[in-house]
Amino acid sequence: MTIPNHVAIILDGNGRWAKAKGMPRSYGHIRGCENLETIVEEAKDIGIRYLSVYAFSTENWKRSRDEVETLMKLFRSYLKKCLKIAEHNQICFRVIGDPSAFDADIQKSIRTLEDFSREFKEMHVQLALNYGSRDEVTRSVRSLAQDVAEGKIRPEDITSEMISSRLDTAGIPDPDLLIRTSGELRLSNFLMWQLAYTEFYFTDVHWPDFDRKELLKAIEAYNNRDRRYGGVKEA
Ligand code: IPE
Ligand code: IPE
Ligand code: MG
Repeated sequence: MTIPNHVAIILDGNGRWAKAKGMPRSYGHIRGCENLETIVEEAKDIGIRYLSVYAFSTENWKRSRDEVETLMKLFRSYLKKCLKIAEHNQICFRVIGDPSAFDADIQKSIRTLEDFSREFKEMHVQLALNYGSRDEVTRSVRSLAQDVAEGKIRPEDITSEMISSRLDTAGIPDPDLLIRTSGELRLSNFLMWQLAYTEFYFTDVHWPDFDRKELLKAIEAYNNRDRRYGGVKEA
């Protein structure tokens, strides 16, 4: 079986998972966060080199104050746990998205984690926090426009590589496989530029129940695709 080099996951369904158990949404987020710890290590064990996970979108601020507060609390403790996960597994963590909207202590935890794990090479994990594709592309275009205004580049010199190199994912290969849990068939503003040739896999399984077996099922489905552009079917 060919293992995709880069897997991106829209981890969805924490709320529905909890509701089905008669529990509050916050319980779903707690279990979802625990599952994220597990899946990072499972993915590494399977041989995935890059893993990108969508944990909080630019639109998720519109949720109730209580829910946003619960999620912030979870990010606070998760980012600290990631230091151990990074060291134990030699994983390089990068946060994609705009961290400036977070409280100062969360921003500091993000910087600490990125600095601490920068040189680790066993695996690369991208945590999408306050991430939105439209926001990311807008920031990239703004920085190019700035260079044009300063006379550093001409508009006709702008290439798609230059846009890519100013995205939060600069230097990271595009995803080979995108997984969305919990049955919704949309991107919800995730990596729209980077997913141009990615294979999509949707499952009804809610995120807290998405385990190693489910991940392997997704990789198996990926292996049965005819990859015309990715050149993945080398095995
Ligand atoms: C995904 O689960 C987690 C986040 C978006 C933070 P949801 O909270 O979206 O769960 P559902 O979709 O309401 O079930
Ligand atoms: C997408 O899930 C965002 C994350 C997984 C962080 P949502 O549950 O927020 O997306 P919509 O609202 O169903 O499109
Ligand atoms: Mg959802």
